[in-house]
Amino acid sequence: MRPQRIALVTGANQGIGYALVEGLAARLDAADLVLLTGRNPERVAAAAERVNGTAQVEGRVLDVTDATAVAELAADLQTRYGGVDIVISNAVGPLSPDRTQAEQADEFIAVANGGATAVLRSFAPVLRPAGSLIVVASSLGTLDHLDAKVQPLFEDGHTLDQIEQAVEDWRRTIHADTHADHGWPDWINIPSKVAQVAAVRAVAAIRRTDDLAGDTLIASVCPGLVDTRASRPWFEDFSEARSPAEAVQPILDLILTRPIDPSTYGELIRDGKVLPWLGETTD
Ligand SMILES: NC(=O)c1ccc[n+]([C@@H]2O[C@H](COP(=O)([O-])OP(=O)(O)OC[C@H]3O[C@@H](n4cnc5c(N)ncnc54)[C@H](OP(=O)(O)O)[C@@H]3O)[C@@H](O)[C@H]2O)c1
Repeated sequence: MRPQRIALVTGANQGIGYALVEGLAARLDAADLVLLTGRNPERVAAAAERVNGTAQVEGRVLDVTDATAVAELAADLQTRYGGVDIVISNAVGPLSPDRTQAEQADEFIAVANGGATAVLRSFAPVLRPAGSLIVVASSLGTLDHLDAKVQPLFEDGHTLDQIEQAVEDWRRTIHADTHADHGWPDWINIPSKVAQVAAVRAVAAIRRTDDLAGDTLIASVCPGLVDTRASRPWFEDFSEARSPAEAVQPILDLILTRPIDPSTYGELIRDGKVLPWLGETTD
């Protein structure tokens, strides 16, 4: 039987991605298909096996640093099913405080930024009307987290190619050890998250009118602090942290609620509310 709705989550064999798949499997229907994707075949197969839910769940190997593989999967889903309904770019590589940021930057940026860009490029065109394309970012992703010197690189009005170039220029400064001189912070997670949100804004700016007419949502989201492999090395106090299953509920509400609230379109959303791109104002 041809599935009714197709959903896909990247980096879904553990953490928030896995909880997103579980949540989708619980909240979609038996005729719907959720693709649990990740880079490692054994981990993907084991995770897909563990999910209990109503919708069908299938594991698919997808290394998001391989933009060709991302494009091929999008094309395959377009051919087979006529497109996709829910796409969540969630993958993040491990980042350890015990190794230098420069040592880890290439892989981290390739997964978080290369991955999000590849998903936006290949999956936005195959998103069906009333669909959702979501990038899991962070509250660190608002522009005010960057020094004024580098903020202009990510301001509205840039194309996805320009955002990608800004990320590449930043990556080079890390290896040249000149990032601080240019105004980049040491912790690579911060520019990475700002660039993800900026990439979503660049794509959304072009598609806004058509997407709103079709009740289609493109947005980035902030899950809050969640105890996972990604967060564990960087925070000591998890007393306020949510479980992955708790953290994904507002994200799933956003994805599954129709009609969409136009004020959320293209924005960074935390618990259903827009986080202002330029930061909170005090007045
Ligand atoms: N945890 C938090 O408190 C928090 C807060 C704000 C934002 N976030 C964001 O939420 C998202 C999910 O984070 P998380 O905490 O759930 O992280 P996590 O538990 O470390 O999970 C990351 C997932 O990404 C996968 N991955 C790594 N490299 C990949 C690649 N090249 N291709 C495909 N998948 C790959 C990992 O697969 P392997 O198992 O094979 O490594 C894993 O399944 C990230 O965007 C993160 O920045 C998290």
